[in-house]
Amino acid sequence: MFKKNSYVFSTEDARRIAHKRLPKMVYDFIEGAAGREVGVSRNEAAFDNIMLQPRVMEDVSERSLKTSILDQSFDMPFGVAPMGMCNLACPNADKILADLANKFDFPICLSSAASSSIEDMGDWAGSHAWFQLYFSASEAASLAMVDRALKAGYETLILTVDVPQVSRRIRDLRNGFNLPFSMTPSAFWDFATHPKWSLTTLLAGTPSPKNFIDDNGKIRFNRNGNRAGANWDFFKLLRKKWPGKLIVKGVTSTDDAKRVKNLGADAIYVSNHGGRQLDSVPPAIQLLPLIREAVGSDFPLLFDSGIRNGEDIVKALALGADFAMIGRPALLALGAEGVAGLSALLDCFCEDISVVMAQLGMKSINDINAHTAYSFATR
Ligand code: FNR
Repeated sequence: MFKKNSYVFSTEDARRIAHKRLPKMVYDFIEGAAGREVGVSRNEAAFDNIMLQPRVMEDVSERSLKTSILDQSFDMPFGVAPMGMCNLACPNADKILADLANKFDFPICLSSAASSSIEDMGDWAGSHAWFQLYFSASEAASLAMVDRALKAGYETLILTVDVPQVSRRIRDLRNGFNLPFSMTPSAFWDFATHPKWSLTTLLAGTPSPKNFIDDNGKIRFNRNGNRAGANWDFFKLLRKKWPGKLIVKGVTSTDDAKRVKNLGADAIYVSNHGGRQLDSVPPAIQLLPLIREAVGSDFPLLFDSGIRNGEDIVKALALGADFAMIGRPALLALGAEGVAGLSALLDCFCEDISVVMAQLGMKSINDINAHTAYSFATR
Protein backbone atom coordinates (compact mmCIF):
# COMPACT_ATOMS: atom_id res chain seq x y z
CA MET A 1 0.00 0.00 0.00
CA PHE A 2 2.73 2.47 0.97
CA LYS A 3 6.14 3.01 -0.61
CA LYS A 4 9.07 1.22 1.02
CA ASN A 5 12.15 3.38 1.38
CA SER A 6 12.73 2.74 5.01
CA TYR A 7 14.47 0.57 7.59
CA VAL A 8 11.29 0.36 9.65
CA PHE A 9 9.71 -3.09 9.49
CA SER A 10 8.27 -3.11 13.00
CA THR A 11 7.71 -0.97 16.08
CA GLU A 12 10.94 -2.41 17.50
CA ASP A 13 12.86 -1.08 14.45
CA ALA A 14 11.24 2.33 14.85
CA ARG A 15 12.13 2.34 18.55
CA ARG A 16 15.76 1.37 17.93
CA ILE A 17 16.32 4.01 15.23
CA ALA A 18 14.43 6.73 17.12
CA HIS A 19 16.51 5.99 20.19
CA LYS A 20 19.66 6.83 18.22
CA ARG A 21 18.29 9.88 16.43
CA LEU A 22 16.27 11.69 19.09
CA PRO A 23 17.69 13.63 22.02
CA LYS A 24 17.32 11.56 25.18
CA MET A 25 14.85 14.08 26.61
CA VAL A 26 12.53 13.69 23.61
CA TYR A 27 12.86 9.89 23.35
CA ASP A 28 12.13 9.58 27.07
CA PHE A 29 9.10 11.87 26.78
CA ILE A 30 7.66 9.49 24.16
CA GLU A 31 8.63 6.17 25.73
CA GLY A 32 8.36 7.10 29.40
CA ALA A 33 5.49 6.15 31.67
CA ALA A 34 4.29 6.61 35.23
CA GLY A 35 6.13 5.37 38.30
CA ARG A 36 8.27 2.27 37.78
CA GLU A 37 6.87 1.83 34.25
CA VAL A 38 5.38 -1.55 35.10
CA GLY A 39 2.00 -0.62 33.61
CA VAL A 40 3.35 -0.03 30.13
CA SER A 41 5.20 -3.38 30.19
CA ARG A 42 2.05 -5.11 31.43
CA ASN A 43 0.05 -3.64 28.53
CA GLU A 44 2.48 -5.17 26.04
CA ALA A 45 2.81 -8.50 27.88
CA ALA A 46 -0.96 -8.89 28.05
CA PHE A 47 -1.13 -8.75 24.25
CA ASP A 48 1.54 -11.46 24.05
CA ASN A 49 -0.66 -13.70 26.20
CA ILE A 50 -3.61 -13.54 23.81
CA MET A 51 -3.71 -16.13 21.07
CA LEU A 52 -5.73 -16.33 17.91
CA GLN A 53 -7.26 -19.48 16.47
CA PRO A 54 -6.34 -20.16 12.81
CA ARG A 55 -9.06 -21.44 10.45
CA VAL A 56 -8.37 -23.23 7.19
CA MET A 57 -9.73 -23.75 3.68
CA GLU A 58 -11.74 -20.52 3.49
CA ASP A 59 -11.49 -18.50 0.30
CA VAL A 60 -9.62 -15.48 1.64
CA SER A 61 -8.07 -14.35 -1.63
CA GLU A 62 -9.98 -11.02 -1.47
CA ARG A 63 -9.67 -9.26 1.88
CA SER A 64 -10.69 -5.74 2.89
CA LEU A 65 -9.53 -3.60 5.80
CA LYS A 66 -12.33 -1.06 5.38
CA THR A 67 -14.53 -0.36 8.35
CA SER A 68 -16.56 2.41 9.94
CA ILE A 69 -16.88 4.03 13.33
CA LEU A 70 -19.33 6.73 14.40
CA ASP A 71 -20.85 6.96 10.90
CA GLN A 72 -17.44 7.64 9.34
CA SER A 73 -15.90 5.05 7.07
CA PHE A 74 -12.17 4.46 6.84
CA ASP A 75 -9.89 2.32 4.70
CA MET A 76 -8.25 0.77 7.76
CA PRO A 77 -9.47 -0.23 11.22
CA PHE A 78 -7.07 2.00 13.15
CA GLY A 79 -5.99 5.60 13.49
CA VAL A 80 -3.42 7.58 15.46
CA ALA A 81 -4.15 8.38 19.12
CA PRO A 82 -4.04 11.94 20.45
CA MET A 83 -0.51 12.84 21.50
CA GLY A 84 0.77 16.21 22.61
CA MET A 85 3.83 17.86 21.07
CA CYS A 86 4.18 15.52 18.07
CA ASN A 87 6.47 18.04 16.34
CA LEU A 88 9.17 17.07 18.83
CA ALA A 89 9.47 13.71 17.02
CA CYS A 90 10.37 15.37 13.71
CA PRO A 91 9.75 18.71 12.01
CA ASN A 92 6.14 19.17 10.85
CA ALA A 93 5.02 15.84 12.35
CA ASP A 94 1.42 17.08 12.67
CA LYS A 95 1.33 18.05 8.99
CA ILE A 96 2.80 14.65 8.06
CA LEU A 97 0.09 12.94 10.12
CA ALA A 98 -2.57 15.02 8.36
CA ASP A 99 -1.19 14.26 4.89
CA LEU A 100 -0.99 10.51 5.57
CA ALA A 101 -4.48 10.48 7.14
CA ASN A 102 -5.90 12.13 4.01
CA LYS A 103 -3.96 9.92 1.66
CA PHE A 104 -4.62 6.59 3.31
CA ASP A 105 -7.93 7.38 4.96
CA PHE A 106 -7.60 6.99 8.72
CA PRO A 107 -8.42 9.34 11.61
CA ILE A 108 -5.91 11.35 13.61
CA CYS A 109 -6.58 13.25 16.82
CA LEU A 110 -5.23 16.70 17.53
CA SER A 111 -4.38 16.94 21.22
CA SER A 112 -5.18 20.11 23.18
CA ALA A 113 -1.45 20.01 23.95
CA ALA A 114 -0.49 19.77 20.27
CA SER A 115 2.31 21.73 18.70
CA SER A 116 -0.01 22.79 15.87
CA SER A 117 -3.12 24.91 16.13
CA ILE A 118 -6.68 23.61 16.08
CA GLU A 119 -7.35 25.73 12.99
CA ASP A 120 -4.26 24.60 11.03
CA MET A 121 -5.01 20.92 11.63
CA GLY A 122 -8.64 21.49 10.64
CA ASP A 123 -7.44 22.96 7.32
CA TRP A 124 -4.88 20.21 6.72
CA ALA A 125 -6.90 17.11 7.59
CA GLY A 126 -10.60 18.08 7.30
CA SER A 127 -12.87 15.32 8.56
CA HIS A 128 -9.88 13.03 9.16
CA ALA A 129 -8.99 15.14 12.18
CA TRP A 130 -10.75 14.68 15.51
CA PHE A 131 -10.11 17.09 18.38
CA GLN A 132 -9.05 15.88 21.83
CA LEU A 133 -9.89 18.08 24.79
CA TYR A 134 -8.10 18.30 28.11
CA PHE A 135 -9.90 20.30 30.74
CA SER A 136 -7.29 22.94 31.42
CA ALA A 137 -7.18 26.08 33.56
CA SER A 138 -10.94 26.74 33.80
CA GLU A 139 -14.31 25.73 32.41
CA ALA A 140 -14.43 28.90 30.32
CA ALA A 141 -10.94 28.33 28.88
CA SER A 142 -11.77 24.71 28.09
CA LEU A 143 -15.07 25.59 26.43
CA ALA A 144 -13.35 28.32 24.42
CA MET A 145 -11.17 25.62 22.89
CA VAL A 146 -14.27 23.56 22.10
CA ASP A 147 -15.78 26.60 20.33
CA ARG A 148 -12.64 26.97 18.26
CA ALA A 149 -12.83 23.31 17.26
CA LEU A 150 -16.46 23.73 16.25
CA LYS A 151 -15.70 26.83 14.19
CA ALA A 152 -12.76 25.05 12.55
CA GLY A 153 -15.16 22.34 11.33
CA TYR A 154 -14.31 19.40 13.61
CA GLU A 155 -17.15 16.90 13.91
CA THR A 156 -15.71 14.54 16.51
CA LEU A 157 -14.57 15.53 19.99
CA ILE A 158 -12.67 13.33 22.42
CA LEU A 159 -12.74 14.27 26.10
CA THR A 160 -9.78 12.70 27.90
CA VAL A 161 -10.65 12.02 31.53
CA ASP A 162 -7.79 9.93 32.92
CA VAL A 163 -5.46 12.84 33.65
CA PRO A 164 -6.88 14.57 36.74
CA GLN A 165 -3.21 15.33 37.40
CA VAL A 166 -0.22 14.48 35.23
CA SER A 167 1.58 11.57 36.88
CA ARG A 168 5.14 11.56 38.08
CA ARG A 169 7.06 10.35 35.05
CA ILE A 170 10.50 9.80 36.45
CA ARG A 171 12.36 10.07 33.14
CA ASP A 172 10.84 13.51 32.48
CA LEU A 173 11.66 14.64 36.01
CA ARG A 174 15.27 13.47 35.72
CA ASN A 175 15.69 15.07 32.30
CA GLY A 176 14.08 18.34 33.41
CA PHE A 177 11.53 17.99 30.59
CA ASN A 178 9.05 20.83 30.65
CA LEU A 179 6.96 22.91 28.28
CA PRO A 180 8.03 25.34 27.05
CA PHE A 181 11.60 23.99 27.14
CA SER A 182 13.95 25.35 29.71
CA MET A 183 17.47 25.23 28.27
CA THR A 184 19.39 23.69 31.16
CA PRO A 185 23.06 22.70 30.67
CA SER A 186 22.07 19.03 30.31
CA ALA A 187 19.36 19.88 27.76
CA PHE A 188 21.89 21.95 25.83
CA TRP A 189 24.33 19.00 25.80
CA ASP A 190 21.53 16.60 24.79
CA PHE A 191 20.57 18.82 21.83
CA ALA A 192 24.22 19.52 20.89
CA THR A 193 24.95 15.80 20.66
CA HIS A 194 21.96 15.30 18.33
CA PRO A 195 22.79 18.00 15.80
CA LYS A 196 20.62 16.71 12.98
CA TRP A 197 17.49 16.74 15.15
CA SER A 198 18.43 20.09 16.66
CA LEU A 199 19.12 21.77 13.33
CA THR A 200 15.99 20.50 11.63
CA THR A 201 13.54 20.57 14.55
CA LEU A 202 14.62 23.58 16.57
CA LEU A 203 15.40 25.66 13.49
CA ALA A 204 11.93 24.88 12.12
CA GLY A 205 10.69 26.76 15.21
CA THR A 206 10.97 25.26 18.69
CA PRO A 207 7.80 23.16 19.14
CA SER A 208 5.46 24.58 21.76
CA PRO A 209 1.85 23.92 22.81
CA LYS A 210 0.11 26.06 20.18
CA ASN A 211 -3.41 26.04 21.57
CA PHE A 212 -2.76 27.76 24.86
CA ILE A 213 -1.59 31.13 23.60
CA ASP A 214 -2.98 34.19 25.38
CA ASP A 215 -3.88 37.53 23.76
CA ASN A 216 -0.29 38.68 24.17
CA GLY A 217 1.06 35.70 22.28
CA LYS A 218 2.42 34.06 25.45
CA ILE A 219 2.17 30.32 26.13
CA ARG A 220 -0.11 29.82 29.13
CA PHE A 221 0.04 26.03 29.31
CA ASN A 222 0.90 24.52 32.66
CA ARG A 223 1.67 20.87 31.91
CA ASN A 224 1.46 19.97 35.57
CA GLY A 225 -1.69 21.98 36.20
CA ASN A 226 -4.76 20.31 37.65
CA ARG A 227 -7.13 18.83 35.03
CA ALA A 228 -9.63 17.38 37.47
CA GLY A 229 -12.30 19.81 36.21
CA ALA A 230 -13.17 17.13 33.65
CA ASN A 231 -15.82 15.80 36.04
CA TRP A 232 -19.32 14.42 35.47
CA ASP A 233 -20.91 17.89 35.49
CA PHE A 234 -18.45 19.15 32.91
CA PHE A 235 -19.16 16.12 30.76
CA LYS A 236 -22.92 16.78 30.94
CA LEU A 237 -22.32 20.41 29.94
CA LEU A 238 -20.10 19.35 27.07
CA ARG A 239 -22.74 16.88 25.87
CA LYS A 240 -25.23 19.76 25.70
CA LYS A 241 -22.81 22.06 23.88
CA TRP A 242 -21.17 19.68 21.38
CA PRO A 243 -23.48 18.88 18.47
CA GLY A 244 -21.16 16.31 16.89
CA LYS A 245 -19.87 12.93 18.02
CA LEU A 246 -18.55 12.87 21.57
CA ILE A 247 -16.05 10.23 22.72
CA VAL A 248 -14.82 9.79 26.29
CA LYS A 249 -11.21 8.58 26.48
CA GLY A 250 -9.50 6.90 29.39
CA VAL A 251 -12.35 4.78 30.74
CA THR A 252 -11.23 1.49 32.31
CA SER A 253 -13.99 0.63 34.82
CA THR A 254 -17.28 -1.02 33.88
CA ASP A 255 -19.25 1.25 36.23
CA ASP A 256 -17.76 4.38 34.65
CA ALA A 257 -18.40 2.95 31.19
CA LYS A 258 -22.10 2.40 31.93
CA ARG A 259 -22.43 5.90 33.36
CA VAL A 260 -20.68 7.51 30.38
CA LYS A 261 -22.97 5.62 28.01
CA ASN A 262 -26.11 6.58 29.97
CA LEU A 263 -25.12 10.25 29.99
CA GLY A 264 -25.11 10.34 26.21
CA ALA A 265 -21.58 9.76 24.93
CA ASP A 266 -21.46 8.45 21.37
CA ALA A 267 -18.50 6.17 22.10
CA ILE A 268 -16.06 5.13 24.80
CA TYR A 269 -12.34 5.03 24.14
CA VAL A 270 -10.95 2.29 26.38
CA SER A 271 -7.39 3.27 27.29
CA ASN A 272 -5.07 3.38 30.27
CA HIS A 273 -3.03 6.14 28.62
CA GLY A 274 -0.30 3.66 27.77
CA GLY A 275 0.64 3.35 31.45
CA ARG A 276 1.54 7.03 31.57
CA GLN A 277 -0.95 7.82 34.34
CA LEU A 278 -1.41 4.98 36.88
CA ASP A 279 1.47 2.50 37.00
CA SER A 280 -0.62 -0.21 38.70
CA VAL A 281 -3.53 0.01 36.28
CA PRO A 282 -4.61 -3.36 34.84
CA PRO A 283 -3.66 -3.96 31.21
CA ALA A 284 -6.25 -2.16 29.07
CA ILE A 285 -6.66 -5.15 26.73
CA GLN A 286 -7.78 -7.29 29.67
CA LEU A 287 -10.43 -4.73 30.63
CA LEU A 288 -11.76 -4.36 27.09
CA PRO A 289 -13.97 -7.52 27.06
CA LEU A 290 -15.42 -6.58 30.44
CA ILE A 291 -16.34 -3.13 29.17
CA ARG A 292 -17.81 -4.61 26.00
CA GLU A 293 -20.00 -6.84 28.16
CA ALA A 294 -21.05 -3.87 30.33
CA VAL A 295 -22.09 -1.55 27.47
CA GLY A 296 -23.64 -4.16 25.19
CA SER A 297 -22.72 -5.38 21.74
CA ASP A 298 -23.79 -2.30 19.74
CA PHE A 299 -22.18 0.56 21.64
CA PRO A 300 -19.09 1.93 19.81
CA LEU A 301 -15.77 1.23 21.53
CA LEU A 302 -12.33 2.48 20.54
CA PHE A 303 -9.19 1.07 22.08
CA ASP A 304 -5.52 1.88 22.66
CA SER A 305 -2.68 1.00 25.05
CA GLY A 306 -0.08 -1.58 24.14
CA ILE A 307 -0.71 -2.08 20.42
CA ARG A 308 2.63 -2.76 18.74
CA ASN A 309 1.69 -4.44 15.45
CA GLY A 310 -1.23 -5.32 13.23
CA GLU A 311 -1.78 -8.62 14.97
CA ASP A 312 -2.42 -6.70 18.20
CA ILE A 313 -5.07 -4.70 16.35
CA VAL A 314 -6.83 -7.91 15.30
CA LYS A 315 -6.72 -9.00 18.96
CA ALA A 316 -8.28 -5.72 20.11
CA LEU A 317 -11.04 -6.04 17.51
CA ALA A 318 -11.62 -9.64 18.53
CA LEU A 319 -11.93 -8.68 22.19
CA GLY A 320 -14.61 -6.08 21.63
CA ALA A 321 -13.15 -2.93 20.06
CA ASP A 322 -14.75 -1.48 16.93
CA PHE A 323 -11.68 0.58 16.15
CA ALA A 324 -8.08 0.73 17.37
CA MET A 325 -5.63 3.58 17.84
CA ILE A 326 -1.85 3.51 17.87
CA GLY A 327 0.20 5.77 20.12
CA ARG A 328 3.91 5.42 20.79
CA PRO A 329 4.65 3.37 17.63
CA ALA A 330 3.51 6.28 15.42
CA LEU A 331 5.70 8.84 17.20
CA LEU A 332 8.69 6.49 17.26
CA ALA A 333 8.34 5.92 13.51
CA LEU A 334 8.21 9.68 12.93
CA GLY A 335 11.23 10.10 15.19
CA ALA A 336 13.09 7.36 13.32
CA GLU A 337 12.55 8.47 9.74
CA GLY A 338 9.85 11.14 9.52
CA VAL A 339 7.28 10.59 6.79
CA ALA A 340 9.11 7.55 5.38
CA GLY A 341 9.18 5.89 8.80
CA LEU A 342 5.51 6.41 9.57
CA SER A 343 4.44 5.40 6.05
CA ALA A 344 6.47 2.21 6.38
CA LEU A 345 5.06 1.41 9.82
CA LEU A 346 1.47 1.95 8.68
CA ASP A 347 2.24 -0.33 5.76
CA CYS A 348 3.57 -3.00 8.16
CA PHE A 349 0.47 -2.76 10.36
CA CYS A 350 -1.92 -3.01 7.40
CA GLU A 351 -0.03 -5.97 5.92
CA ASP A 352 -0.03 -7.66 9.35
CA ILE A 353 -3.80 -7.26 9.67
CA SER A 354 -4.45 -8.53 6.17
CA VAL A 355 -2.16 -11.55 6.52
CA VAL A 356 -3.52 -12.40 9.98
CA MET A 357 -7.07 -12.21 8.63
CA ALA A 358 -6.04 -14.75 5.98
CA GLN A 359 -4.75 -17.10 8.69
CA LEU A 360 -8.03 -16.73 10.57
CA GLY A 361 -10.15 -17.40 7.49
CA MET A 362 -11.59 -13.88 7.40
CA LYS A 363 -12.30 -11.53 4.55
CA SER A 364 -13.58 -8.43 6.31
CA ILE A 365 -13.08 -6.51 9.53
CA ASN A 366 -16.69 -7.26 10.48
CA ASP A 367 -15.81 -10.96 10.58
CA ILE A 368 -13.43 -10.15 13.42
CA ASN A 369 -16.04 -8.08 15.21
CA ALA A 370 -18.32 -11.10 15.03
CA HIS A 371 -15.88 -12.74 17.47
CA THR A 372 -14.88 -15.58 15.16
CA ALA A 373 -11.27 -14.74 16.05
CA TYR A 374 -11.98 -14.77 19.73
CA SER A 375 -9.70 -17.17 21.48
CA PHE A 376 -7.75 -17.84 24.62
CA ALA A 377 -7.85 -14.34 26.04
CA THR A 378 -6.31 -13.69 29.43
CA ARG A 379 -9.08 -12.57 31.71
C1 FNR B 1 0.07 10.53 24.87
N1 FNR B 1 -1.28 10.30 25.17
C2 FNR B 1 -2.15 11.37 25.18
N2 FNR B 1 -3.49 11.17 25.32
C3 FNR B 1 -4.37 12.20 25.26
O1 FNR B 1 -5.58 11.98 25.36
N3 FNR B 1 -3.90 13.48 25.07
C4 FNR B 1 -2.58 13.77 24.94
O2 FNR B 1 -2.19 14.92 24.75
C5 FNR B 1 -1.66 12.69 25.01
N4 FNR B 1 -0.32 12.92 24.88
C6 FNR B 1 0.54 11.84 24.73
C7 FNR B 1 1.87 12.10 24.44
C8 FNR B 1 2.74 11.02 24.21
C9 FNR B 1 4.17 11.29 23.87
C10 FNR B 1 2.26 9.69 24.32
C11 FNR B 1 3.16 8.51 24.07
C12 FNR B 1 0.95 9.46 24.66
C13 FNR B 1 -1.79 8.92 25.34
C14 FNR B 1 -2.17 8.30 23.98
O3 FNR B 1 -3.28 8.92 23.43
C15 FNR B 1 -2.48 6.81 24.11
O4 FNR B 1 -3.50 6.62 25.04
C16 FNR B 1 -1.26 5.98 24.52
O5 FNR B 1 -0.13 6.39 23.78
C17 FNR B 1 -1.51 4.50 24.27
O6 FNR B 1 -0.44 3.71 24.74
P1 FNR B 1 0.68 3.08 23.77
O7 FNR B 1 -0.01 2.12 22.88
O8 FNR B 1 1.29 4.23 23.05
O9 FNR B 1 1.66 2.43 24.70
